[in-house]
Order: sequence, then structure tokens, then C-alpha cells
Amino acid sequence: MSVIAKVVGRRVWDSRGRPTVEVDVQLADGSCGRGIAPAGASRGTREAVDLRDGGQRLGGFDVSAAVANVNGEIARALAGHDAADQAGIDAALIALDGTPNKARLGGNALVATSIAVLHAAAASAGLPLWRHVAGGGQVTMPLPEIQIFGGGAHAGRRVDLQDFMVMPVGALSFAGALEMTAEVYLAAGSLMQAAGKVAGVADEGGWWPQFDANEEALEILTRAIEHAGFAPGREVAISLDIAASEFGRDGVYTLGLEKRRLDSAGMIALLGRWLDAYPIVSIEDPLAEDDEAGLIEFTRLYGARCQVIGDDYLVTSAGRVARAAEIGAVNSALIKLNQAGTVTETRAALSAAQAASMTVLVSARSGETEDVTITHLAIGWNAGQLKVGSFARSERMAKWNEALRIEEATGAAFAGRAALGAGR
Ligand code: PGA
Ligand code: ZN
Repeated sequence: MSVIAKVVGRRVWDSRGRPTVEVDVQLADGSCGRGIAPAGASRGTREAVDLRDGGQRLGGFDVSAAVANVNGEIARALAGHDAADQAGIDAALIALDGTPNKARLGGNALVATSIAVLHAAAASAGLPLWRHVAGGGQVTMPLPEIQIFGGGAHAGRRVDLQDFMVMPVGALSFAGALEMTAEVYLAAGSLMQAAGKVAGVADEGGWWPQFDANEEALEILTRAIEHAGFAPGREVAISLDIAASEFGRDGVYTLGLEKRRLDSAGMIALLGRWLDAYPIVSIEDPLAEDDEAGLIEFTRLYGARCQVIGDDYLVTSAGRVARAAEIGAVNSALIKLNQAGTVTETRAALSAAQAASMTVLVSARSGETEDVTITHLAIGWNAGQLKVGSFARSERMAKWNEALRIEEATGAAFAGRAALGAGR
């Protein structure tokens, strides 16, 4: 056992150049741990809330109050706690905050602290983080889900859909999966260049989507897979994050790019046509977070052949995951540390999903940093799948590269296509 001697919060900067919270935790035995809060742009309404200063300065995004909370109340409350008691520390943080959505101390302050404690405990045990959280169990390397075109809130809403991604289901190892991804990313860039459509990259590093219709992105992505030399579907499959809460409310979906409005049934029919026409194995947030009936209907129709992921709808809440499993609203859970706000709640949501036979993806946010914690959690918790954004920019590459090192060190088996669940 080693107790917490010191907790230090500071302001650092994320991949969008916005302030975020970093926390260092020092233990009495000299071990240290660090956590940095990520930040979403297309957030679910039930997520833990970041504490931002507001006002004019830095677009209102500054975190001086959240940092002050770490250095004040949080530091005082955690001093002397056993760092190995993650559940006890997270419960203390939740009680100290006292709100249902962590609005008082800030989800950003809490999640950075919780992550820092986890790292400090691993360091004190002399273990890499993935091994510390695995608790001696076998681990697998996750199937990566990688964005090729960014869209939605991450690309000025240039297209309505948010993520056009690939999953290298035919790869034999994590390293092999990344090499296949690199070929597809390059091929997609070349195709856009040839069409005069290269205009830089979106928030997560995917190509900026200069398309005239959402479906054009699907066509080009399928061609990019072929140009890279892979069989679409068999070797490299397509995965989408519709992020439908961003353009759908009260059962009305407004596709701005195509200047049309669909109701829930129309949206389901559109996605059904795409599922028939393109090698899509996974769809996230196909309907808005407030369209539960639509989610149930979509999963009933397509859930056998397609992974249906809940992000905004589940918000990494164990309770919402269990309920969703009961009513058949989704069959897969996206797991994000800062949606829940602490490591313990995040782990509980992941366990609830696994207990309900849902597939699981540990995910980054659109605002990220050099923090690679999620890579370790995806491996150590045997999530099966990892979503980090695209294949460019170092806040993304740091996480992919960390997985390469862990694969080399462990020789762990690659989850591959099986991570998508039986029959997909
Ligand atoms: P966000 O988006 O981090 O901007 O919320 C990521 C996602 O929707 O998966
Ligand atoms: Zn999402």
C-alpha cells in the first residue's frame, strides 16, 4: 500500500489548442502518475460536464476553476488515501462533487485526477498500466477502428455524418492492421488529390470531406480500400459514426448537405440501403439519443449483420448500458472515460456491456492530448476494439504507437474480426 502524498493540477493544451486539465499524483513511496482530460465536441446530453470558465477569454474554454478545484478541494480530500483503492478514491471524488453530472468540481478535474491515481498505483506496483488493470488475466490486442474522412462537428459540418472509418478485419496482428490502415489512408488521400478535393484534415486527422453528398464519401472510401489492394469487407471493412444526435431531434433528421429532411423511418431506410450497397460492419449512433424507438427498430432490423454502437445514447453509464441491453436498443457500447468521469464508473459501464454480451470499444475524444491511457485500458480490460480517430497527428498516433509497443512486449493475440461478434 502506498498513500497519496501530493496532487497537483495544471492547465495544459489539447489538440484543438484549447485549455485542458492535467493532474500529477505523487505517492509517499515516490511513485508518480499523470492524467490529462480529453474533450468532446459532439457530446451526449447526459455526459459528465466539463467545468469551463466561460466569458470571452480563450473562447470561454479556459479551465482555471477546474484546476483550482484539483489543487484545493480535491488535493485536500485525497491526501493520505491508498492509491491502490481506485474504487474508494473515485467514490470520494463523486461524493465530494455532489452533483449527478460532476458539474461542481468539473468532469475534466475529476477524470484527470482519477486517471492520474490509476497511473500512480500502477507505477507503485511496478507494472505497466495495461498489466496493472488486467490483474493477471490474459489480454488481447484490440481491433482498431480508424477514421479516414472526418465530418460532422469535426469538420465544420461539411458533410452531415461524423466518421467514415475502416476496420482491418483481415489483419493477423495489430501491427499488420495499422499497416493496412496506412495504405488505405494514403490511397484515400491520392484519390482526393486526383479529384482536386484535398483540403487538409479534420479535427481527428481524417481527410477534410470535400464531398457533394454523404454517400460520395462511402463510394470513395470503398474505392480507396480497393486501390490500397484490399478486398472491401473481407480484408478491410467500413464503419460509420453517424453521430445522429448532431442533426436529429424529435424524430426529424436534417441532412444539411443534401438539403433534405427524414423522419426516423426514413433515416433507418437510408442506412439500410447503405448497408446493402457498401461493406459496412459497424454503425455508431445511427439515430439520435432521444430516438429510442428508432434505435430499437434499427437494431432489430440490422443488428444481426451490423454492430450497432451506442455513444451519445449510452454515455458510458452502466445503468444505461444494462437498460439498453434489456430493450435491444444497441448491441455495442462505446466507452469514454470522460463521459463517465472516473475510471471506476468507466470500468463498470464496460463490465455491464460485456455481461450483456455487447461488443465494446474504448474510445478517444475529438479533443485529445499525448495521454495514452485509453490504449492501455482497451488492452488490459480486453475491450476487443479501440477507436482513436484517424491515422495522422500525434495525439492520435501516440495511442496507436503505444499499442505497437504493448503488442511487441506481450505477444498478445489480435482480436481481429471476432471482436465484432458472431456472424459479422
Ligand atoms: P466527440 O466525438 O469526442 O467530439 O464527442 C467522438 C465520437 O462521437 O465518437
Ligand atoms: Zn460517436
